Amino acid sequence: MTFPTIPGDGPLPVVLVGAGLMGQAWMRMLQTSPDADLVGLVDLDQELAHSAAAELGYDGLVIGTSVSDVASRSGAKAVINVTVPRAHVPVTLEAVFAGLPVLCEKPLAPTVGEALAIVAAAEASGQLVVTSQNRRFYDSLASYRQAVAEVSPLALLTTDFAREAHFPGFRETMRHPLLVDMAVHAFDVSRYLLLDDPVSVWCETFNPSWSWFDGDTVATAVFEFAGGVRYRYTGSWTTRGLVTSWNGSWRAAGEHGTATWDGEREVRVERADATRSLPGTGHSVVTSSGLSAPMAAGGAEEIAGSLADFVDALRTGRTPESEVHSNVHSLAMVEAAVRSADTGERVHFDDVLEEGHREALALDLPEAVASALAGWGSARAAVDRVAVGS
Ligand SMILES: NC(=O)c1ccc[n+]([C@@H]2O[C@H](COP(=O)([O-])OP(=O)(O)OC[C@H]3O[C@@H](n4cnc5c(N)ncnc54)[C@H](O)[C@@H]3O)[C@@H](O)[C@H]2O)c1
Repeated sequence: MTFPTIPGDGPLPVVLVGAGLMGQAWMRMLQTSPDADLVGLVDLDQELAHSAAAELGYDGLVIGTSVSDVASRSGAKAVINVTVPRAHVPVTLEAVFAGLPVLCEKPLAPTVGEALAIVAAAEASGQLVVTSQNRRFYDSLASYRQAVAEVSPLALLTTDFAREAHFPGFRETMRHPLLVDMAVHAFDVSRYLLLDDPVSVWCETFNPSWSWFDGDTVATAVFEFAGGVRYRYTGSWTTRGLVTSWNGSWRAAGEHGTATWDGEREVRVERADATRSLPGTGHSVVTSSGLSAPMAAGGAEEIAGSLADFVDALRTGRTPESEVHSNVHSLAMVEAAVRSADTGERVHFDDVLEEGHREALALDLPEAVASALAGWGSARAAVDRVAVGS
């Protein structure tokens, strides 16, 4: 699909929808952003919107409850959707059919079916829609991607994630809090590193006796990617001691060596850049150069990185990270892992995508979105499309 580019080079005027916890983090970041100017704020809770604007020192913001109304009164050219996941579909649909591109907080939608409805709405409206996967945007992760390429082709990519998480509220009563609320970040980063998408997954979850959550806080999932790499994720939210970073500890093992990332600043590579035969055994061993990957530096990180990528795509027409067609694969990794954990079966992504398509066709959606969905030969073919600017 093609989306309209927005010529110009100054900060893009934007409306933010959702003035809650994360919305206020976006408002703080936008105060110093070179990429966007906050001109409007939308929340169903008007008292919250007004108090957040006042507390953060925003004067003259257009504030209201309707994204199309606030956008037209404020002159905004794009929308940042930081509402709760169940509001991502209605808010994003209202924005794109008002002619506005959208940057939407993760997860794109609560289910793959609803995410596919957003993909169809992007196509029907011709607007760019991008998921903000902020954990793709770290200088050290960019270095790690370089290091992974150096040691590829890979056999195995692994993440070990261990935290003691205390989030009083809805997470403590979810069935799969770790997989749904946290693992999506690591799953998405695996696609970023491998430049590939998964085809199947096996996953097991459980909850230790000392857990303060109702649902499962420990999970191990093994994904097979289309190119054959296995990605193994092991995570825990009820770890006592020796925790990892919030991004987890990563290891990539390939034909040309091994690369690790501590999820913060340290990237290490041991390259098998020479092989030596062991006399008389027919075996060879690798010798290591002990090379450290050079650090990329100076890129915008986390949500500022998501925003910079989104605005650059609108200015130049290039395909951004996590454009929604492609991002459906990250959401599908969560849904497929949950399904495998619940059934004990290996789950295939083609099945998750086609069932999501059937679910989307049954939703109550605007005619243009429903007919875009009905026109897809298969969900797999649809999500493999690439969006570029015209
Ligand atoms: N990327 C990250 O690291 C990260 C961290 C936390 C939250 N999030 C994501 O950010 C989003 C928001 O989370 P939060 O913690 O700020 O939630 P929150 O409940 O604190 O705030 C959400 C706000 O959205 C408003 N809202 C709900 N429906 C609306 C609608 N239809 N129109 C306008 N406003 C509406 C609510 O009134 C509320 O003020 C979620 O998608 C969440 O997963 C991301």
